[in-house]
Amino acid sequence: MRTLCACLVLGTALCAADAAGVKKFYFLYTVNNAGYVDVCGCKNKKVKQGSLARRSTLVKGLQAEGKPFLLLDGGSCLFDLDGRMPKEAERAQMLAKAFVIVESYNRMGYKALALGTSDLLLGLDELKKLGAAASFPILCANFFGPDGALVFPPWIIAEAGGARIGIVGLVMGTMGLHYLDKVAPGCAVGDPIEAGKKAVAELKGKVDLIVALSHCRKEENEALGREAPEIGIIFDPNVNYGSHSLFMADPSDYADRFEKALVIRADGEGMRVARVDVEIEAPLAEVRTSPELNRLESSLAADPLPADLSTVLGRGGYNRAVVTRLSIEPHFLDDPAITLLVDTWKKQDPGRIDPQALAALKAAPVVYAGYQACARCHEPQYEFWRKTRHATAFASLKENDDHLRYDCIACHTVGFGIAFLDVKDAEKFANVQCESCHGTNPEHVKNPDGAPKWDRVSEMTCLTCHNEHQTRIPFNFPAKLPAVTCPKSR
Ligand code: HEC
Ligand code: HEC
Ligand code: HEC
Ligand code: HEC
Repeated sequence: MRTLCACLVLGTALCAADAAGVKKFYFLYTVNNAGYVDVCGCKNKKVKQGSLARRSTLVKGLQAEGKPFLLLDGGSCLFDLDGRMPKEAERAQMLAKAFVIVESYNRMGYKALALGTSDLLLGLDELKKLGAAASFPILCANFFGPDGALVFPPWIIAEAGGARIGIVGLVMGTMGLHYLDKVAPGCAVGDPIEAGKKAVAELKGKVDLIVALSHCRKEENEALGREAPEIGIIFDPNVNYGSHSLFMADPSDYADRFEKALVIRADGEGMRVARVDVEIEAPLAEVRTSPELNRLESSLAADPLPADLSTVLGRGGYNRAVVTRLSIEPHFLDDPAITLLVDTWKKQDPGRIDPQALAALKAAPVVYAGYQACARCHEPQYEFWRKTRHATAFASLKENDDHLRYDCIACHTVGFGIAFLDVKDAEKFANVQCESCHGTNPEHVKNPDGAPKWDRVSEMTCLTCHNEHQTRIPFNFPAKLPAVTCPKSR
């Protein structure tokens, strides 16, 4: 039998007949956060990616969209990666920041964190304290305590979209003994491939998909792909010969293949998140991306069948994945709840950080007044703004029915991610409004004389939306500013 579901092969929608049994969900994957709470350290970029506060807004927006997903982190999350042992005086500050990261991850709803080498930097005891403050498990199937028992759970089974997913944590087997002796005396790292195979044996029959949330070197993950063919997806931290590569200029590096396993990577420092939309048709069968399926289709005509295709056909179907990378850019506005956590950490005496106090912190809601409120007192500016293209930015989306698209409205409305999360509410916040440029200042609306002064509108304000990475249109601030600068009142 050489028939494949044609639409599967073409990588378009699934066949109607098959759709009923297909389980759909997606993964969001971050790795090598490297102790970052703010934007990335990419000095040469004007618009910097990353920050936990923006990541949280992205995640909240996706939650509001309502499609099931699992948020995973591949490790080396909590501390930086320069490999230097911290000085005594730095430890309290680093631990306090790590608590902020853990609490942010709690709020975003992370499902698991794989143990990464650098997460042990302050010692196993401190990591256990951080783990106790986390509402998600730290996973590792090959990290053993002095008593020879596993220190962390080896795997969990998570559910999404009706599918059961086994998630196995693995750490590189080549963790330096000298380092291990300092951070976790008496502990040992086992062979990740053997540990992976053991976990697979335990999970088989219980799940629809097994994924390795791996903090192993590339060479180890290659071996894992060869030796544990039931693993459908390996999340690979991009560690080559022991050193981390945090940036991937080439988008195609986000998806790779080691034998039967689809390999997924993401940039470090929270810059970009990998999204993997999965459709499961046959439990534990291979996961193929659309380009791979297209290649298979063209080889259908070939005689004899190429080996990989006959394997696929022999296994009664396969599963499908679409891999995208989401860049954490400034149009994902800072989630005030996370900003409050970060600001508290920055101000507080690090020795006194209390995880429970952090968890209890609640940001006051941010109130957007809307242009109608401003217009009451600022008629000349309103009349001016009304004639700029900002005042019709939402209509531009509507023209092509793009006004309910999560990935479009952030720059064509005001306050997306803070004032509203559900795209169905976008109409009420339509257009680039006064507060998109001037910011919010609710006191001013009530009592202009007594309220805090407004900040001047800066180039960074415009770059929130006029971001070349997103629009592909270069932006010249001095040249464009006059076109939108409101007239003076007097
Ligand atoms: C109740 C009346 C009132 C409302 C409502 C109001 N303003 Fe004002 N605003 C004033 C007054 C009065 C001043 C100070 C005098 C002036 O420059 O017009 C002012 C000044 C400003 C300034 C200039 C400050 C400076 O440094 O010169 C900005 C910008 C501004 N308002 C923006 C807004 C925005 C945006 C809104 C809507 C969110 C708004 N205002 C709503 C009355 C109001
Ligand atoms: C909240 C997002 C947002 C912010 C902030 C923003 N813009 Fe825009 N801007 C847009 C969008 C969207 C359009 C296109 C509107 C349309 O035509 O539908 C636009 C259009 C323009 C245009 C007209 C098209 C062109 O390129 O000539 C100018 C000029 C402009 N913006 C300048 C600025 C300047 C200067 C700032 C900062 C002071 C700024 N904008 C801030 C989103 C924004
Ligand atoms: C990162 C912010 C951002 C996002 C996200 C965004 N836009 Fe825009 N869009 C802009 C800006 C800025 C402009 C104005 C560009 C210019 O002309 O300088 C614009 C302009 C436009 C225009 C007017 C083009 C014209 O010249 O008439 C349309 C239509 C549009 N965007 C549609 C979309 C759609 C559809 C999406 C989602 C796929 C989207 N935008 C997502 C920022 C954004
Ligand atoms: C695209 C960005 C942008 C938008 C949208 C915008 N403004 Fe402005 N506005 C500016 C800039 C730039 C200035 C110059 C002062 C500054 O740089 O802060 C300014 C100045 C002002 C001032 C001070 C004028 C003075 O006396 O000096 C007021 C008041 C004001 N805007 C009100 C409004 C109101 C009300 C709206 C909405 C109806 C609005 N702005 C929308 C960019 C914007």
